[in-house]
Amino acid sequence: MASLNLFSFFALLFLCHGALHLQASHHHVYSRLQDGVSAVGSSSSSSKGQPYRTGYHFQPPKNWINDLSGPMIYKGIYHLFYQYNPKGAVWGNIVWAHSTSTDLINWTPQGYGIYPSHPSDINGTWSGSTTFLQDGTPAILYTGINPKNQQVQNLAVPKNRSDPYLKDWVKNLKNPLMAPTPQNRINASSFRDPTTAWMGRDKIWRVIIGSKVDRKGMAVLYTSKDFVNWVRADHPLHSTDGTGMWECPDFFPVLVGGYKNGLDTSKLGPKVKHVLKVSLDDTKHDHYTIGNYDPIKDVYTPDHDGLADKDFGLRYDYGKYYASKTFFDSSMNRRILLGWINESSSVVDDIKKGWSGVHTIPRTIWLHKSGKQLVQWPVKELEKLRGKPVVVPTRVLNGGSKVEVKGVTAVQADVEMYFGKFDLSRAEKLDPSWTDPQLICSRMGSSVRGKLGPFGLLVLGSKGLEEYTAVFYRIFKASDSKYVVLMCSDQSKSSLNNANDKTTYGTFLDIDPIKEMLSLRTLIDHSIVESFGGFGKSCITSRVYPTLAIDGAAHLYAFNNGTQHVRIARLTAWSMKKAHIA
Ligand SMILES: *[C@@H]1O[C@H](CO)[C@@H](O)[C@H](O)[C@H]1NC(C)=O
Ligand SMILES: *[C@@H]1O[C@H](CO)[C@@H](O)[C@H](O)[C@H]1NC(C)=O
Ligand SMILES: *[C@@H]1O[C@H](CO)[C@@H](O)[C@H](O)[C@H]1NC(C)=O
Ligand SMILES: *[C@@H]1O[C@H](CO)[C@@H](O)[C@H](O)[C@H]1NC(C)=O
Ligand SMILES: *[C@@H]1O[C@H](CO)[C@@H](O)[C@H](O)[C@H]1NC(C)=O
Repeated sequence: MASLNLFSFFALLFLCHGALHLQASHHHVYSRLQDGVSAVGSSSSSSKGQPYRTGYHFQPPKNWINDLSGPMIYKGIYHLFYQYNPKGAVWGNIVWAHSTSTDLINWTPQGYGIYPSHPSDINGTWSGSTTFLQDGTPAILYTGINPKNQQVQNLAVPKNRSDPYLKDWVKNLKNPLMAPTPQNRINASSFRDPTTAWMGRDKIWRVIIGSKVDRKGMAVLYTSKDFVNWVRADHPLHSTDGTGMWECPDFFPVLVGGYKNGLDTSKLGPKVKHVLKVSLDDTKHDHYTIGNYDPIKDVYTPDHDGLADKDFGLRYDYGKYYASKTFFDSSMNRRILLGWINESSSVVDDIKKGWSGVHTIPRTIWLHKSGKQLVQWPVKELEKLRGKPVVVPTRVLNGGSKVEVKGVTAVQADVEMYFGKFDLSRAEKLDPSWTDPQLICSRMGSSVRGKLGPFGLLVLGSKGLEEYTAVFYRIFKASDSKYVVLMCSDQSKSSLNNANDKTTYGTFLDIDPIKEMLSLRTLIDHSIVESFGGFGKSCITSRVYPTLAIDGAAHLYAFNNGTQHVRIARLTAWSMKKAHIA
């Protein structure tokens, strides 16, 4: 038992990019492992004895995955690389596994794109990003771990640019192109995850790399004329005191005005704002700010300094979600966001089931017309997996009641719910000292009856509701004409297995219930509950592991546990077909 505890301790340290030991490995080992992975591809995806494997969220047949890396579209094919351990369900031996798709939903494995083979990456091939060079070559910058276990940045380009599947990658002979030196005083254990580079009007490339100095998180800036020779700028693009290490930074332009169109990463102009996302290593949350990028001074200034204020900064997802990355989908003129969802189960359980980690449904991401936040919505290709809709027409849910949504595979479904007008005069007062939404949600779970709320969905529920996950809203009165909408995902009853992390998640949803319709969309996929509040203004993703509410024994309900009635304007649920993911 002692050794297992030690094991889980290390596994936790290793999440995302633990900077500890990696097993030495070389080329031949990886070629062999690669053969291994294609052989198991088709057989082990059976759900027999595997109730938590997903039906339409991305995951390989087995083993550990974390960050997605270098996503792109090339010659009409979507490419997804991800951090993968070929040898087991815990972090280690990381290679860039590679899958391709024509619709972002069904995926075909392509072997390993990048794996340790060169002194500049012999101890690890960690996360990175793709940039399209001016001649159309997709170039990958990634973090390598050198024999001294220093984090350095490397370049790889396709071996054969005519191959739309980009199976083989060639590393630049000058690697590493960016490295810690005594002169630049970069911390060799805190220098990783290059972004997609962007080019200024001066034809010079810029890229940022996550780092820190003491407790100050920063986006170290490098510039280059030829993408091979990189020079460190004398200042970071941006930095914030007290935030710790910034992992997986992402920096991209968004269009002002509420349009859903995405922009190429080098786009500048008057109708353009910029977004800086960082994955905070200390809290394991993906925070973002919206702000202005000055391309002459090469500095980014957030509109509000959200990162400094960790509890209130904007997040892509207020649940289990980390190490995300966007890319510009030039074929559909949209920007796509992908993220990693880790397990909430014990390391012992992960090893037993043989895998760990899944990715979210790719989301289209754009700037809300208010300019104050981003909006995210599952890519529309997902809707191809929907079966016949089951509709619950307009109806009132009295306080303390629930209605079962029958006729859907409740374990693998997509649900959209719209609420009618509320009698807001009945809303409870919000105690002004209650400023932490996650804390309110955990103190006031689905079993604490309020007035307007909790109401929403009970998903992955067992027949007698011994198990369920509740995704719900509460509406509070803040002042005479101002209301506060709280969105929660309560996992406390999700499983009879108490070895799981059942943290309740919550966030405020920035909508005005006087003027706006309240909506909820939830993607249910065996062990994933991925919810979109307010048409994509706030997202919460949860991992749950029911023991009774599995496969055909799972149920779906709309519920209202407030004392006041609420009106469902419409609820539509779809059984979801299985995506083809190998
Ligand atoms: C790093 O790589 C070197 C050379 O391959 C190897 O000897 C060493 O054990 C590795 N270190 C770790 C911590 O994996
Ligand atoms: C490059 O890829 C194209 C398209 O798949 C293929 O026809 C060609 O034979 C490849 N060239 C080499 C040298 O492998
Ligand atoms: C460099 O980063 C590592 C990993 O976070 C940390 O343990 C170490 O204290 C840092 N060194 C300095 C000089 O800041
Ligand atoms: C993964 O899950 C564990 C346990 O639920 C949690 O403590 C940890 O912070 C998570 N890591 C990341 C990177 O999200
Ligand atoms: C609704 O509230 C009652 C009373 O607190 C509680 O017993 C019940 O479990 C709640 N229902 C849900 C779905 O949480």
